[in-house]
Amino acid sequence: MALFLLFLLAFSAVSADEDAFIGVNIGTDLSDMPHPTQVVALLKTQQLQHVRLYNADRGMLLALANTGIRVAISVPNEQLLGIGQSNSTAANWVAQNVVAHYPATNITTICVGSDVLTALPNAARILVTALKFIHSALVASNLDRQIKVSTPLSSSIILDSFPPSQAFFNHSWNPVLVPLLSFLQSSGSYFMLNLYPYYDYMNSNGVIPLDYALFEPLPANKEAVDANTLVHYSNVFDAMIDAAYFAMSFLNFTNIPVMVTESGWPSKGDSNEPDATLENANTYNSNLIRHVLDPNKTGTPKHPGIAVSTYIYELYNEDTKSGPLSEKNWGLFNDNGVPIYTLQLKGSGQAFANDTANQTFCSAKEGADSKMLQAALDWACGPGKVDCAPLLQGQSCYEPDNVAAHATYAFDTYYHLMGRAPGSCDFNGVAAITTTDPSHGSCMFVSSIGNNGTFLNSTASSATDSKASGSPARVTYAGTFFGGIIFMKVLVWLAVIL
Ligand SMILES: *[C@@H]1O[C@H](CO)[C@@H](O)[C@H](O)[C@H]1NC(C)=O
Ligand SMILES: *[C@@H]1O[C@H](CO)[C@@H](O)[C@H](O)[C@H]1NC(C)=O
Ligand SMILES: *[C@@H]1O[C@H](CO)[C@@H](O)[C@H](O)[C@H]1NC(C)=O
Ligand SMILES: *[C@@H]1O[C@H](CO)[C@@H](O)[C@H](O)[C@H]1NC(C)=O
Ligand SMILES: *[C@@H]1O[C@H](CO)[C@@H](O)[C@H](O)[C@H]1NC(C)=O
Ligand SMILES: *[C@@H]1O[C@H](CO)[C@@H](O)[C@H](O)[C@H]1NC(C)=O
Ligand SMILES: *[C@@H]1O[C@H](CO)[C@@H](O)[C@H](O)[C@H]1NC(C)=O
Ligand SMILES: *[C@@H]1O[C@H](CO)[C@@H](O)[C@H](O)[C@H]1NC(C)=O
Ligand SMILES: *[C@@H]1O[C@H](CO)[C@@H](O)[C@H](O)[C@H]1NC(C)=O
Repeated sequence: MALFLLFLLAFSAVSADEDAFIGVNIGTDLSDMPHPTQVVALLKTQQLQHVRLYNADRGMLLALANTGIRVAISVPNEQLLGIGQSNSTAANWVAQNVVAHYPATNITTICVGSDVLTALPNAARILVTALKFIHSALVASNLDRQIKVSTPLSSSIILDSFPPSQAFFNHSWNPVLVPLLSFLQSSGSYFMLNLYPYYDYMNSNGVIPLDYALFEPLPANKEAVDANTLVHYSNVFDAMIDAAYFAMSFLNFTNIPVMVTESGWPSKGDSNEPDATLENANTYNSNLIRHVLDPNKTGTPKHPGIAVSTYIYELYNEDTKSGPLSEKNWGLFNDNGVPIYTLQLKGSGQAFANDTANQTFCSAKEGADSKMLQAALDWACGPGKVDCAPLLQGQSCYEPDNVAAHATYAFDTYYHLMGRAPGSCDFNGVAAITTTDPSHGSCMFVSSIGNNGTFLNSTASSATDSKASGSPARVTYAGTFFGGIIFMKVLVWLAVIL
């Protein structure tokens, strides 16, 4: 009885007093991965408070410092064997990737491996040991209460998932799952699930209706009813989570909360993936966010009130992913931070500022070479025919008086003059599209909404699309920020205009 009470207490400590949150996964298989400062700028613009990284990239952890953003980091599968075989390797990993950054960077979670049972079955035998070594290292640093350790698993290890009350884990993994669940229970951690109604729907040969996968309203006769519990399920997401709860309870673990570490829907696919569409992706992710954050519907039918926080897969489209076209199209944003589609989140309001409003600006890149910025600024205010008068001393956009700020004003004005045409925000690689409005004080930038500008005829020769070459800083995360204020001679290009 005492033990039972202890477990109950542990359970409520983990979940009951926490609200569910929405986070995003940040995959990095992009040919032009944004610099960490740009990633963080996007997160801030969209008011995203929770992210999951697939590694423990130092540049990202530094950029996330002092932002208030909660961070889940990962031990990549490639490093799993080493950590599972040596507690000192695990201790070094924690020292380098956690202790060195905490608490400035609010690391809340360590995901040890990813889909290990299905993606790297050879490492399954050391998986629990790896979790324990990482956890011991946290204990040694007195961080085990702040930082949870778990491992995201594919929902495909749950068999016969409908009805949920009859779901069970593939028995061949019980030798791993029993000690794993025991560890998660004793350490007060989560059962992490990668859950894709898209694939469940795709693989169901028409048994699962699209609307049921997309959280869309179903006619009562189409709702799925669990004949054993008489619970009605109106979406695949809830049914899969309850299947996980039942599968755990068949192994006698009844108090480990589920966290969804990945879920999403692709916005584009090959011809044999007809349901990977912009509209379905938008519907799924918008409904998912509203569902998770709905204070009146916290949890699932089996565990109402128990928050199921969820990380959306994923922030960016990953253009260098291999496999079917859908693999490259799970993102909410492209590499310029422009939304792929506008989420419909009316009323939920706790993540994604104003939905993902399609408002884009053209800005000088972080860390761009100041001489190149100056040259591009001169071009924009001269041959580019931008009216740069607001940059003159005493005018609205003179402050801050540095080349990056002035270039941003000129670049953005030019970009809108050109009707946001492809290639019109490049300037030999020193400019990039952003969703962050650079307006400040009385210096108002041209916004993309309700403004189609006046199209001027001008050669766009310096605005060719040289995106592929990129700048080394963006690729290497070197973090060469534009630090010094460079005063420039307004008169040089003023002469050109007049
Ligand atoms: C690793 O395990 C050994 C043997 O159990 C123990 O003596 C040692 O203190 C551990 N090292 C760390 C870094 O935890
Ligand atoms: C870090 O995140 C946790 C969990 O959300 C929160 O309780 C804590 O206050 C945060 N710490 C800091 C320093 O912001
Ligand atoms: C259960 O897991 C084993 C080991 O990965 C696999 O060979 C088998 O096909 C799985 N069973 C089912 C029904 O998926
Ligand atoms: C779960 O507990 C019941 C009752 O104590 C026991 O009979 C059963 O064998 C246990 N199942 C597992 C998988 O440990
Ligand atoms: C939640 O329920 C309260 C009272 O029952 C109601 O006023 C509120 O509108 C509901 N909120 C949502 C998002 O449905
Ligand atoms: C954003 O605007 C561009 C240009 O007007 C348009 O092509 C694109 O489809 C829009 N995207 C969204 C998500 O509305
Ligand atoms: C955000 O949405 C509100 C309400 O729809 C609107 O008044 C406001 O102008 C929007 N802000 C931006 C930056 O689009
Ligand atoms: C510009 O906007 C006006 C009013 O919204 C519209 O009538 C006009 O067709 C637009 N011009 C272009 C080139 O989009
Ligand atoms: C502007 O460009 C268009 C198409 O390129 C051309 O037809 C038109 O004559 C140009 N107008 C001026 C004033 O140069």
